[in-house]
Amino acid sequence: MEKFKQGVVIITGTTSGVGLNTLKPLISSGWQIVAINRSNKRAIEAASILLGQNDLKKISFIEIDLSDLNQVRKGVQEISSKFKNNCKVLICNAAVYKPRLKKPERSVQGFENSMAVNHFGHFLLINLLINDLINSDKEINLNGKNILFTPRITILGTVTANYVELGGKIPIPAPADLGDLAGFEKGFLSPISMANGKKFKPGKAYKDSKLCNMITVQELAKRYPPEKIICNSLYPGCVANSRLFRNTPLIFRLLFPLFQKFITRGYVTEKLAGQRVASVATDRDLFQSGVHWSWGNRQKLVGKVFSQKLSKRIIDTELSQRTWDLSMKLVGLKKI
Ligand SMILES: NC(=O)c1ccc[n+]([C@@H]2O[C@H](COP(=O)([O-])OP(=O)(O)OC[C@H]3O[C@@H](n4cnc5c(N)ncnc54)[C@H](OP(=O)(O)O)[C@@H]3O)[C@@H](O)[C@H]2O)c1
Repeated sequence: MEKFKQGVVIITGTTSGVGLNTLKPLISSGWQIVAINRSNKRAIEAASILLGQNDLKKISFIEIDLSDLNQVRKGVQEISSKFKNNCKVLICNAAVYKPRLKKPERSVQGFENSMAVNHFGHFLLINLLINDLINSDKEINLNGKNILFTPRITILGTVTANYVELGGKIPIPAPADLGDLAGFEKGFLSPISMANGKKFKPGKAYKDSKLCNMITVQELAKRYPPEKIICNSLYPGCVANSRLFRNTPLIFRLLFPLFQKFITRGYVTEKLAGQRVASVATDRDLFQSGVHWSWGNRQKLVGKVFSQKLSKRIIDTELSQRTWDLSMKLVGLKKI
């Protein structure tokens, strides 16, 4: 623990894309990092390409496969024992997107896998770490300066989970919608694969999991006062060439970045997306809790961050509370 007098940011999914590109801006601002990945070897290899030896020394790599809730519990014990007093920020970034599956993949606990990784793994991680975050040392040292820093949880949301935005209305295969949560209600095990208990649609399973991520932020902000912990989400822009799209058809991977660059102008580089995540997770100007930050869909050189309006499916009090309660049961934090 001695080694970590500085503030610590915990971040999931740094082998590629947005997560990998969040490391440098955080380290430059003086943060130490705990990087959670399912393979330390691949995470270290990826970070070594982007960072110098001095920067690499600021990262501790911890192996957790977010699709296995037992690994999440074990990993949290390791994080708590090593970094408890200095954990100030948790960034939930990792995600899996497999829109071409014919039938659902299952997590170790038997859940549909994209919901398991993107939502349940993070939901458990948050709930097991939140007291460490809240009770961590008030003052931290960043680049030699001692500052007071309110702990923060930042989750990557997306435009396709928010139907008040154009991207959230796209009907292919269907917009994000948890319906009456019948699938969660019935235990979310085979043959159930969707939160609403209906037919498996892999692209929608991803969108639903991101909707759960955004609901989680809203519920956290209601349950925890902002002076104790700030909870926010963001849409970093469309990183159309990231590895998130590795399971889409080749033609899509070729055309989608061009479409985003030249038609919608929603495209952002992995580097810019990483800077945006670091900013939402640590900038002292972005201190409001319960906000979904966005730079919009059409990227402008002087584009400024703003609080994005959210759909009823994200902010509806009853739905978000039920989603939270059912998630608590499904990850084993409450009795069924
Ligand atoms: N790309 C976009 O346009 C876009 C837009 C809006 C929001 N987002 C969000 O941004 C975040 C990052 O996406 P990205 O584009 O950077 O995708 P990416 O390059 O595919 O990165 C995803 C990360 O998640 C990790 N991951 C996947 N399954 C995991 C598991 N079971 N346990 C632990 N880690 C796991 C991956 O590690 P492995 O190497 O082990 O697979 C990788 O490090 C996601 O939350 C995504 O929803 C992306």
